[in-house]
Amino acid sequence: MTARWLKVMLLMMTTGIAAQGSVTKAPFGTTPDGKAVDVYTLKAEGIEASIMTYGARVVAIRTPDRSGKVANVVLGYSALDGYIADKTQYFGAIVGRYGNRIALGKFKLNGHEYQVPTNDHANSLHGGTVGYDKLVWSAKELPDGVEMSLVSKDGDMGYPGTLTVHVKYTVHKGSLRIDYASSTDKATVANLTNHSYFNLAGDGKTTVLHDELTLFSDKYTPVSATLIPTGELAPVAGTPFDFRKATTIGARIHDDNAQLKIAGGYDHNWVLRGANGVEKTAAKVYDPATGRVLTVTTTEPGVQFYSGNFLDGTPFGKAHESHARNTGLCLETQHFPDSPNHPAFPSTELKPGEVRHSTTTFTFSTQAK
Ligand code: GLA
Repeated sequence: MTARWLKVMLLMMTTGIAAQGSVTKAPFGTTPDGKAVDVYTLKAEGIEASIMTYGARVVAIRTPDRSGKVANVVLGYSALDGYIADKTQYFGAIVGRYGNRIALGKFKLNGHEYQVPTNDHANSLHGGTVGYDKLVWSAKELPDGVEMSLVSKDGDMGYPGTLTVHVKYTVHKGSLRIDYASSTDKATVANLTNHSYFNLAGDGKTTVLHDELTLFSDKYTPVSATLIPTGELAPVAGTPFDFRKATTIGARIHDDNAQLKIAGGYDHNWVLRGANGVEKTAAKVYDPATGRVLTVTTTEPGVQFYSGNFLDGTPFGKAHESHARNTGLCLETQHFPDSPNHPAFPSTELKPGEVRHSTTTFTFSTQAK
């Protein structure tokens, strides 16, 4: 055996992660209304991701740290009942039909005013009271992943048009790629994203405040008291929102800044450089303690960086699992919040005959001390 092979085999033994890709399926419980939920585990070199059909949610992503020790780097629950009981945190979910907020749940399209359910301080959040995160999706196994699909009927949560959604999760060396495709039979608005909470420490307990974040963005969208964008694209320069150079998340989170006070930390949309539809790097997170690095690329025009401010330690499910404030961070690649009420923002309107495609990739690597 050559020295190189010996090294590869030793690495596989210590990381416990297959170099060969594979997909396996297992049951993950039953919803209170009797629907069976499955979990698919996708393996490729340096990554193992588990995705379940309830909410098309990422339930685990296992990656090695700088010493090869593998751990789960996303927050979640060990069983389905935890996910069902927790109605407000959207762990790992695909959120839709409209990710993030629509002011007062109202928007106009082709002269019609639509009212969608309000579930967050008089606004509509993440698709309303029963968004896509709370539905059981159908799944099709792929050679290197799984495709989750959903048909959201005309009028579902007040939105016009039957929206057909396909979300493909695939794994490739160290990365989890998400390809979205949606189409409608009537003009509608749509904004899909993934709501994983990353905890690169891998213990689900250490806060993200020591993580170093880079956001590839010069502007962000400031918000009103209920987290609705004012419409302004404000420069990040000279503010705690400037992550153009890698900066520790906790460095300025408690600054005396009106925007940080409104959200209780970071919970804002950053305007990415480069056009909508063009793949670009959105964010990079480095955990100095474990050496784990997460790089996020996307074709979306924005990213919601949320520092887990509303995680409050409430226990959910039979196992009473809880998550404390700031123990996870979200990088929700998206169109801007409340776009239907801001004609100057990139449009979220989808017309019949069109297919909206977008791609986001989470790549994991490690960095030496
Ligand atoms: C998004 C929102 C936050 C919060 C979380 C879910 O990130 O912007 O305000 O609602 O989802 O808890």
